[in-house]
Amino acid sequence: MKNIAVIGYGVIGKRVADAINLQDDMKLVGVCDVISDWRIQNAVRKEYDIYAATEEAADKMKSEGITVTGNMQELLKKSDLVVDCTPKKIAAQNVEIYKERGIKFIVQGGEKHETTGHSFSAENNYASALNLGATRVVSCNTTSILRTLTALKRAGLLDYARGTLLRRATDPWESHLGGIMNTMVPEKEIPSHQGPDAQSVDPDLNVITSAVKVPETLSHMHYWNVKLTKKASREEVLETFKTSSRIHLIRYDQGLVSNNTIKEMYLDMGRPWGDMYEVALWEDMVKVVGDELFYAYVVDNQAIVIPETIDAIRALTGIETDGKKSIAKTNESLGIN
Ligand SMILES: NC(=O)c1ccc[n+]([C@@H]2O[C@H](COP(=O)([O-])OP(=O)(O)OC[C@H]3O[C@@H](n4cnc5c(N)ncnc54)[C@H](O)[C@@H]3O)[C@@H](O)[C@H]2O)c1
Repeated sequence: MKNIAVIGYGVIGKRVADAINLQDDMKLVGVCDVISDWRIQNAVRKEYDIYAATEEAADKMKSEGITVTGNMQELLKKSDLVVDCTPKKIAAQNVEIYKERGIKFIVQGGEKHETTGHSFSAENNYASALNLGATRVVSCNTTSILRTLTALKRAGLLDYARGTLLRRATDPWESHLGGIMNTMVPEKEIPSHQGPDAQSVDPDLNVITSAVKVPETLSHMHYWNVKLTKKASREEVLETFKTSSRIHLIRYDQGLVSNNTIKEMYLDMGRPWGDMYEVALWEDMVKVVGDELFYAYVVDNQAIVIPETIDAIRALTGIETDGKKSIAKTNESLGIN
C-alpha cells in the first residue's frame, strides 16, 4: 500500500483526493493547502487529515476550528508520492522540496514539461512512466487530444490532425471573479500550445491546434479535421474510437445537443460534481469524406485528468506495471465503463 499526499485542495486536488480514497492499492495520507474557508471544511467533513502549507495558514485554520495534523514537511515524511495540484507555477517551487527529499511527485498541466522531463497520458505512454521519479499529467485539452489521436494512431489511421479548440473562460466556482462575456478571444499564436503539448507525450504526432476562449464555464469543445492514412468507413472510425475506454460516444439525436445537456446527463448519472472523466464525442457528427475525418467533442476540464492522475500514481510507484490493468482498475473505481 503506497501513501499518497495531495498538495493543493482546489478544483483538481479535491477530486484527486476523493479518487485516491476510492482505490484499494494506495492510501490518501493527507491534504495540504493554505485555505481555511468552506473549501477545506469539506475535506474536514470527509475526515481527511489536513496539513498546512505555511505557519500563517496553520494559524488561520486553527482559528476556524480545523484540526491541523501537521505542516507540509511532516506530510511529506509520511508519503511515498506527492500529487501537487497547486496553481500554475507554485508547483514548480514545491518541486525543489520534493527533489531535495527524494520523494516521487506528480504535477498537473499548468506546469512545464521541463519540470519533470516526462509528461503522461495513460493510454499513450503508461509504460514509459514506470518507476520514474516524477511526471506531469498533461492538461485537460491535451489529454483529450491524446486519447482521440492515440486511438486513431493505434489503428494505423492517423496521418495528421488539425483541431480548433473552444476553451472555457474560467471554472464554475470562481466565475464571479473573472471570465469573459459577450466576446470570443482568439489565441494569437497558431499553433496554440496544446498541439505541441501533446507532442511532449508523443513526439510522433503530427498535430496543429488553434484556440479561442469563449464565455463558458462548464467545458471545452473541440472540432477536428484529420487526414487519414487511407480511405476508411465511418464504421471503422467509430470502432476505432470505441477501443478507448475513456472516449464516450454520445448522440446528438438523443438530445445531447450542447455541453449543458451533457453535463446534466452526467449529474443524473450520479457522478460526483457531475464529472465527465471521458471525452464525450458525438457519434452522429462523425463524418468521413474519402481519407478525411471530421469530428467534434466536449471536454470536462475539471474531471478528465482525474483518472489519468490515478494511473500516473500506479506507474510511478510501480504498484501496477501493466497500463491496461491500471486503466481498467481506475475506470472501475470511478464508474467509467
Ligand atoms: N481547473 C481546471 O480545469 C484544470 C484542468 C486540468 C489541469 N489543471 C491544472 O491543475 C493544477 C491546479 O489547478 P486548479 O484549477 O485545481 O487550481 P485551484 O486554484 O482550483 O486550486 C489550487 C489549490 O492550491 C492551493 N494552494 C495555493 N498555494 C498553495 C501552497 N503554497 N501550498 C499548498 N496549497 C496551495 C489553493 O489554495 C487552492 O486550493 C494547475 O496546474 C492547472 O493548470 C486545472
